[in-house]
Amino acid sequence: MKYRSIAIDGPSGAGKSTLAKRLAQELGFLYVDTGAIYRTVGVAVHRQGIDPADGTAVAALLPELGITMGYGEDGLQHMFLDGEDVTTAIRENEISAYASKAAAIPAVREFLLEMQRRLSREHDVIMDGRDIGTVVLPQADLKIFLTAAPEARAQRRYRELLARGQQADFVHVLAEVIERDRRDMERETAPLRQAEDAVVADTTALDLEGSLQLLLGLIREHLHV
Ligand code: DC
Repeated sequence: MKYRSIAIDGPSGAGKSTLAKRLAQELGFLYVDTGAIYRTVGVAVHRQGIDPADGTAVAALLPELGITMGYGEDGLQHMFLDGEDVTTAIRENEISAYASKAAAIPAVREFLLEMQRRLSREHDVIMDGRDIGTVVLPQADLKIFLTAAPEARAQRRYRELLARGQQADFVHVLAEVIERDRRDMERETAPLRQAEDAVVADTTALDLEGSLQLLLGLIREHLHV
């Protein structure tokens, strides 16, 4: 049986994970957050005290990394590092830069590629990331490029940090969003870019419910679900 796959790519803060999670529930697909996998590498690099931009040092760490993922009773994706549940730790603000820098290293991407592809061979998946439509699942049944203006994305991220009880400053968050976009788009390996056959969904002026309806409409049109 051929499993169906939906790829959602786009910059950070466009709402990919929130929307993909809801869509997966709605459709009965497995939701795969690939950013969480890169973030787990980020946590490992951080804990080892390695410079995340040092490709040689990070590559040397990879064979020792025990990264696994599982789905809790809540149906949510949990990340494990050497057996320890790091699902919360990967969301710490400083880990974002570690993940982004480590994700620019070709050996890291190569190391994580098969893990992502295997999931799509075993389940109907809705997978979000940066290079899902272009590299990981080029045969996806539907590719969505989800985007929003940087200010709108920074605003969402800012609210999210406050809601989590973390300290945040909007100007700083916006600068981080812009810097991360630049790094994710300008890196040589698997840069963030829209697949030629992706459908663009811009959520700048939409709330969560509006975005969800937009994407459900696209999915129904393309997948006949
Ligand atoms: O989506 P996120 O913010 O959780 O992703 C964390 C970092 O991982 C982000 O800076 C880009 C990188 N990433 C990637 O390079 N490729 C993916 N498929 C997913 C994430």
